[in-house]
Amino acid sequence: MCGIIAGVSGHDVTGTLLEGLKRLEYRGYDSAGLALIDEQGEILRKRSTGRVKALQDEVTSDVRVRGNIGIAHTRWATHGKPTKQNAHPHICNETVALVHNGIIENHEALRASQEKMGYRFTSNTDTEVIVHQVHSNLEHSADLFSALQQTIKELEGAYSLAVISNLEPDCLVVARQGSPLVIGLCEGENFIASDVAALLTKTREFIFLEDGDVACITADNVRIVDTNGKQVDRQVHHSRLNSDSVELGEYRHYMLKEIYEQPTAAADTLEGRLSGNRLLAATFGHEADEIFDSITSVQIIACGTSYHAGLVARHWLEEFAGVATSVEVASEFRYRSHVVPENCLVISISQSGETADTLAALKYAKEIGFQHSLCICNVAESSLTRESDMVLLTHAGPEIGVASTKAFTTQLIALMQVVIALGQRNSMTHEQEERIVRELRSLPVKIAEALELDTEITVIAEKFAHKKHALFLGRGTHFPIAMEGALKLKEISYIHAEAYPAGELKHGPLALIDNEVPVIAVAPNNELLQKLKSNIQEVRARGGELIVFADPATGFKEKDGLTVIEVAPVDDIIAPIIFTIPLQLLAYRVALIKGTDVDKPRNLAKSVTVE
Ligand code: F6R
Repeated sequence: MCGIIAGVSGHDVTGTLLEGLKRLEYRGYDSAGLALIDEQGEILRKRSTGRVKALQDEVTSDVRVRGNIGIAHTRWATHGKPTKQNAHPHICNETVALVHNGIIENHEALRASQEKMGYRFTSNTDTEVIVHQVHSNLEHSADLFSALQQTIKELEGAYSLAVISNLEPDCLVVARQGSPLVIGLCEGENFIASDVAALLTKTREFIFLEDGDVACITADNVRIVDTNGKQVDRQVHHSRLNSDSVELGEYRHYMLKEIYEQPTAAADTLEGRLSGNRLLAATFGHEADEIFDSITSVQIIACGTSYHAGLVARHWLEEFAGVATSVEVASEFRYRSHVVPENCLVISISQSGETADTLAALKYAKEIGFQHSLCICNVAESSLTRESDMVLLTHAGPEIGVASTKAFTTQLIALMQVVIALGQRNSMTHEQEERIVRELRSLPVKIAEALELDTEITVIAEKFAHKKHALFLGRGTHFPIAMEGALKLKEISYIHAEAYPAGELKHGPLALIDNEVPVIAVAPNNELLQKLKSNIQEVRARGGELIVFADPATGFKEKDGLTVIEVAPVDDIIAPIIFTIPLQLLAYRVALIKGTDVDKPRNLAKSVTVE
């Protein structure tokens, strides 16, 4: 999704803005641009389609492009094609320039009235109405800050905005409603961005704006008003991240780096939460005890990979904690009626904490009477964490690759902690808790072992690169893992992949099987093994090419049309986490052969902040 960076300083900010845009590239975009106020007090703009590198080349080849105040943007097209004309910043009458992340829902009505006022449009975006509106309001306002406060009263939708005007060349004004925006505080200069990653080379001191906030930022001051126009002090947070956490280092892609970071991410997500063979009561904060005591059911809401984590957790919550659990894709949950159960805990799961559908679904759940909420999230100061009663962080570290990897496995680890917390109050025995904790503790080592399959998988990947379709099979907790494997493969290699619970094959998908459609089965050694074996026979009997990721004790033997990749034996409890690793590697290795843009697959964005 779109990324914003802007700043005001005692010296030229161009380099910082370009560097910040590069650090925002992971969010997904198709054009980029920046605008500065130059020494002559004029707004100078550069825009280009494609990569930030193209913008950088244009900027560095023009010595005039310098300025102590500026705004910059990566655009992920929603309204209007990814053309130079539609790229941000948008400018009105050479006086006001603006960048925007989000969607303005009443843009058509605003456009109609602005056209009557004589404003000329140069793009097909929803954004352009905002810059004209600020310009129009500026005529009747004391300053740019008041003009923006007036403007946001007239906007419907979601936005983070950064605005400059050559009438007030020392002041950057910004606003936030539904889309993320942070202020990075520095000595003699200040910046804003869509996320902290963009500013880590400049500072580790951040203010997270809240919905409805508008801020006026100069090189040495920050003034914030809330949705009622009242001046407010927002807390300054010190980020634990440093700029290295978002560097690629020795790896070719962020996705590979993040796959290999999983042993550490797992250890970090367990740190401080276990004592001996028990989960520490303090893990969820002091208010959690009372809430957890009352919980009789769970409703999970999430999107994409995070939704798959929720599907695994449903099995665990019902089996180990004895708590009835429903899981629903957030974009569906928010648009239907619900019978709200009493004492139900809504668990939202999100890597970014900014996914518009998940956020809206949580707000909707609260509105219709769900009383308690817990958020499992990788970003401490995100919209979702702020909206939730309780927060359990996954300490995966920044995830830059668009395809989620370490966020998923750490979500599963965090969810297992919820299972224990609720289980302690219900049907879980001490022995079960001890077993789960022991297995969780073993994860960093077992994940590292699973990563050793990489070489074998690199060879298997060759079989895939020329295929157009693939089918993933799993049963029980491993059906969502098959779904996750299929999602990874399709999003980064563009091979059409679907997942089925293996028992469903004969109810339709078996018709697809021939030697052109590889079938990937996830085969842990559990009580469903014999059933899975029968399903696999159904595929073999129809000439399908099978690749089975199997525990050695399952007894699968390599033969014509059947490739077996042995995954070291693990306890059933952590098997879904361990079997995820080879599927992530498979998707990565296939994408590498196909030469796709692994970290930024076409049409996708990292943080999906629009509906
Ligand atoms: C797939 C992927 C997406 C995200 C989904 C939700 O690899 O990354 O499916 O899982 O967009 O994002 P978060 O978890 O940030 O809410």
